[in-house]
Amino acid sequence: MLRTHTCGELNKEYKDKEVVLCGWVHRRRDHGKLIFIDIRDRYGLTQIVFVPSVSKEAHDEAQKLGPEFVVKVTGTVNVRPEKNVNPDLSTGDMEVCATGLEILNSSEVPVFEVDDTADVSEELRLTYRYLDLRREKLLNSLKLRHKLCAVIHSFLDKQEFLEIETPVLTKSTPEGARDFLVPSRLNPGEFFALPQSPQLFKQILMVSGLDKYYQIVKCFRDEDLRADRQPEFTQLDMEMSFAEEEDVFDVTERMFKIIFKELKGIDIKTPFARITHKEAMDKYKSDKPDLRKEQGEDFAFVWVVDFPLFKYNKDEKKWDSEHHPFTSFREEDSGLLEGKDLDKIRSRSYDLVLNGNEIGSGSVRIHKQDVQQKIFDIIGFDQEEAQKRFGFLLKAFQYGAPPHAGVAYGIDRLVAIMAGLDSIRDTIAFPKTQKGNCLLTDAPAEIDAKQLKDLGL
Ligand code: AMO
Repeated sequence: MLRTHTCGELNKEYKDKEVVLCGWVHRRRDHGKLIFIDIRDRYGLTQIVFVPSVSKEAHDEAQKLGPEFVVKVTGTVNVRPEKNVNPDLSTGDMEVCATGLEILNSSEVPVFEVDDTADVSEELRLTYRYLDLRREKLLNSLKLRHKLCAVIHSFLDKQEFLEIETPVLTKSTPEGARDFLVPSRLNPGEFFALPQSPQLFKQILMVSGLDKYYQIVKCFRDEDLRADRQPEFTQLDMEMSFAEEEDVFDVTERMFKIIFKELKGIDIKTPFARITHKEAMDKYKSDKPDLRKEQGEDFAFVWVVDFPLFKYNKDEKKWDSEHHPFTSFREEDSGLLEGKDLDKIRSRSYDLVLNGNEIGSGSVRIHKQDVQQKIFDIIGFDQEEAQKRFGFLLKAFQYGAPPHAGVAYGIDRLVAIMAGLDSIRDTIAFPKTQKGNCLLTDAPAEIDAKQLKDLGL
């Protein structure tokens, strides 16, 4: 390594130790003959002092430093006098007195200050994302996200869930948004769809006997974007065989209890509150009620249950699935499938709402081929259409499909709420704008005529 320690590691216990630190010049102050710089890395800030009598060479070199230069500093740890201690920094009781300085790279004058207090337009932040990501707020959000995923992996591993990857080049999965399409060069005129979720694959994994599946997985939806929506976002996707609502609720609540304890030091109350869709609409006029004012506490979870199975699409004068067409329904409402009161059928789906945000959604699934076909008929996929789109699932259901249930949680939304961020964009290293562009790379971009020709377009 070029360095002996990181910029967040040293304190007065290291007194007189020879150290080598590397980092970015965060701040520079010239005090007559003394030059002070704070150097920064992912781990923190350390103050360096350049004294001509200690090293004239290093002091001369330090005069060339500008913000965001990358440096390697050699020096000795000094304990700061009491009056100069900075209690806000873990390294605030020491400084490094430089005996050597190497400029590893210079920097253009940054287009904005690498400082959380600087007010910078999002457009500029996303264009210069590498500068933006050097700021503490975003760094903390990425650290939280990493820790969240680490806790999830560890918890689900102990519960005997298997993480299994599913394809990204696939067929359309109906989750209510438009698909992103990828032309197939080897099959001219044919297209893959990027998955809106791994819904059908995880159900097939249950038919395959995998029993408990999860995946932290990218999903792709071409829809109008908002602060809590990205065209590519990440789900914690889960599915369990021989399971019902209570099993999904139980594993979820135990998982969230550990997540909040480990990440925020908070004991959240379980079991979570439950409310029917009708109660939520009657009482809160929302299917995502924010129960903080009742429940008190910073984080208010609630399961919303008993959603209607279908909703009427007035524009197209047809019935659509409220969740998705693979959702099962309450046995006692099954008689209504033959009548006109389709909106009265209660599904076996559930949403998990946190502070008024939908952070997860799932259902007990249909696992019988004839029932699945019946639902397809109602939402307007006749046998031929259903075969074309989901024939593989219907066929799999004929080979011993177990009863199963599952859920998917929005990782980006969860991090945003836990970190107190206004937008999920700040939980993603390289997000898209509201218009679906990546300002860093300038994607999407036109492609040349040859590529179009190769694709038969
Ligand atoms: P659903 O479509 O409700 O369910 O998605 C599950 C969760 O994913 C998050 N989410 C999003 N986050 C960011 N940007 C988006 N565009 C976006 N869309 C959804 C939300 C949401 O609650 N396959 C089913 C799950 C299942 O039935 O198991 C599904 O994807 O937090």
